[in-house]
Amino acid sequence: MSDAPPRSAARSEGALGPASRLPSRSSGEPFRGTLPPEEAPRVLDVKGVSKRFGSKVVLDDVTFYVPVGEFLCLCGPNGAGKSTLLKAILGLLTPDAGAILVDGETVEKGRSKIGYVPQRKAFDRDFPATPLEVIVANVRGRWPLRISKDERELAMGVLEKTGASALANAQMRDLSGGETQRVFLARALATKPSLLILDEPTAGVDVGGRAAIIDLMAEISASDVIAAILVTHNLQAIARCAERVVYLERTVRAWGLWSELSSDRELSAIQIGAGDHRTLAMDGD
Ligand SMILES: Nc1ncnc2c1ncn2[C@@H]1O[C@H](COP(=O)(O)OP(=O)(O)O)[C@@H](O)[C@H]1O
Ligand SMILES: [Mg+2]
Repeated sequence: MSDAPPRSAARSEGALGPASRLPSRSSGEPFRGTLPPEEAPRVLDVKGVSKRFGSKVVLDDVTFYVPVGEFLCLCGPNGAGKSTLLKAILGLLTPDAGAILVDGETVEKGRSKIGYVPQRKAFDRDFPATPLEVIVANVRGRWPLRISKDERELAMGVLEKTGASALANAQMRDLSGGETQRVFLARALATKPSLLILDEPTAGVDVGGRAAIIDLMAEISASDVIAAILVTHNLQAIARCAERVVYLERTVRAWGLWSELSSDRELSAIQIGAGDHRTLAMDGD
């Protein structure tokens, strides 16, 4: 695309070197970079998933997979179908066509292997609850009237991991955006998931809180045990955490290593988020 915004020097120097080394392809064709080995065990398999709302096709033949332990960033403009796809993976809506396997099982059976960090706006901030209760409730599947010693230890362990143990007995409604997300990350980790799903965890979080969340996600990315799907427009989060990237716009328009997507001439013209790259890098959503 000739009207692409100018790229910064950093962006044009991908890990694979100059963009000209990548194979050229005609416009509009989906990009396939280096994909995970076919034979590697998969924690998620999305096969030909389609979904429409009324006459509007929101997901069209979406196919990709996530091997055990991989950290995948799911990018795409607003309205691209990202949250709809996550809902299908979580079993909150049924696709019109296609199949989804979680850890080799149907969504109903595999759902317990998923830890979910919802978009921040999804939480009812008026509900009186402490981080400890929120975490134990998620492990138990119902609200805890009393918390046992084992449950407390489990909850404190995950809060420690996300740097939020000092908040254990605070009121959720008093927490900052970054603190809330660290509690939700601890809550998701408490069920020992094989797949973590994070829907824009840095959106609406202040700069300091955002850096702490990106550090935590980078740690998770380094682990071989937990796989993750991170929906984000934050270029720093992608650069630090992503092993691979799926660029969704109703269908999978690009799938490969971040170094491949960020150094490709044509893909560099794709807006990873919902606006200008430089604005996004600063806004961080
Ligand atoms: N329950 C719904 N009913 C009707 N349209 C919906 C529904 N959920 C999402 N959509 C539409 O589907 C499209 C994709 O939405 P969404 O998956 O939220 O995109 P993203 O998360 O990538 O911003 C949007 O046009 C949205 O308005
Ligand atoms: Mg969304």
